[in-house]
Amino acid sequence: MVAPGRQRSRSGLASRLLAAIALVVVTAGLTAWLVAAAIGPVTFHSHMLQAGASHDPVAVLHAEEAFRSASALSLTVSLAAAVLAALAVSLFLTRRIGRSLAAVSRAATRVAGGKFDAHVTNPHLGVEFDELADAFNAMSARLHASEALRRRLLSDVAHELRTPVATLTAYLEGLEDGVETLTPATVAVLRAQASRLTLLAHDLAAVTQAESGELVLQRVLVTAQEIVTAATLSAADSFAARGVELATGVDHDLAPFAVDRDRIGQVLGNLLDNALRHTPRGGVVTVTAEVALPGAVRIVVEDTGEGIEPQHLTHVFERFYRVDTARDRDHGGSGIGLAITKALVEAHGGTITATSAGPGHGTSFEILLPAADAAR
Ligand SMILES: Nc1ncnc2c1ncn2[C@@H]1O[C@H](COP(=O)(O)OP(=O)(O)OP(=O)(O)O)[C@@H](O)[C@H]1O
Ligand SMILES: [Mg+2]
Repeated sequence: MVAPGRQRSRSGLASRLLAAIALVVVTAGLTAWLVAAAIGPVTFHSHMLQAGASHDPVAVLHAEEAFRSASALSLTVSLAAAVLAALAVSLFLTRRIGRSLAAVSRAATRVAGGKFDAHVTNPHLGVEFDELADAFNAMSARLHASEALRRRLLSDVAHELRTPVATLTAYLEGLEDGVETLTPATVAVLRAQASRLTLLAHDLAAVTQAESGELVLQRVLVTAQEIVTAATLSAADSFAARGVELATGVDHDLAPFAVDRDRIGQVLGNLLDNALRHTPRGGVVTVTAEVALPGAVRIVVEDTGEGIEPQHLTHVFERFYRVDTARDRDHGGSGIGLAITKALVEAHGGTITATSAGPGHGTSFEILLPAADAAR
């Protein structure tokens, strides 16, 4: 926007640059001409006298006149040619700079208009221009990616909201019309849908916080044994109720390491919750912790359950991704648990990977906390 009273000048950078260069070239030409006019005749006159021509003043005058006119002609022609050549080269260069800047400006206008796919081709006009083009392209690519993520997130959230809201609305209409009666079973359905909405709101807040990079970790020194015991103790009842064995194996040589106890508890809780959900009665879920080279801590949660097909493995950490959408939703999951888990592990400077030998062969989630973090 142009401030009122400050009309933006329409002349571009290229024409301003050309005008400036023209001024410099003309000044240089004029200066050269004046200096040559001041020095040339005097020097010529003294050379004539040294050559012994003083006895013939008419010849000296004639020769000096010839020198002046020859110098004036050659200087004028050569300076005019030099000025024209310099202006032609300047015109070419300034146009090139102007075109490159115009391309950046057009691309920036596209980005300002919400079209984040704008790209600037490298003008090869020096390091500064190349860096400008690279930075611009990196910026637009990043904006493009985050816009795509925002759209996907919104559509995922809308999709997740639709089913519980539709069920609640249908039941409420049924109650109003007298088709349904308020039995304990109806209340249970209404409650289940309401809890699903509450859980979704909670998970969304958690994943947004975890992925924002603003998570403040309350690191304390803990042993792997403490962490694993705390997680398995809270899960023990649900495992017993579902007839799934919960085993642990912790390397006793592990030195205490600095982590946020609650967040890592949340990570293990999510992994154990998933493992239990996808392991049939009689199966085993094992949590192990050991020293991983060089000096890092490796925590693995492994189950003997359903397993995950290779094409789904890379996606399970994405928000709202569920391998079997209908069935996993029926289990009550919103598909955000692993996205939160990954963000929490990464906030600790660690990595998490999933492996599975395929359907029916169980799944294993491996967390690696780097040596720096383990020692901090
Ligand atoms: N141990 C596992 N065995 C088989 N599949 C799994 C396992 N853990 C996760 N998955 C698959 O990965 C998907 C994503 O898991 P995630 O924890 O993110 O979501 P969820 O468990 O469905 O829901 P939420 O954790 O938000 O309650 C699950 O829906 C499931 O299909
Ligand atoms: Mg889960």
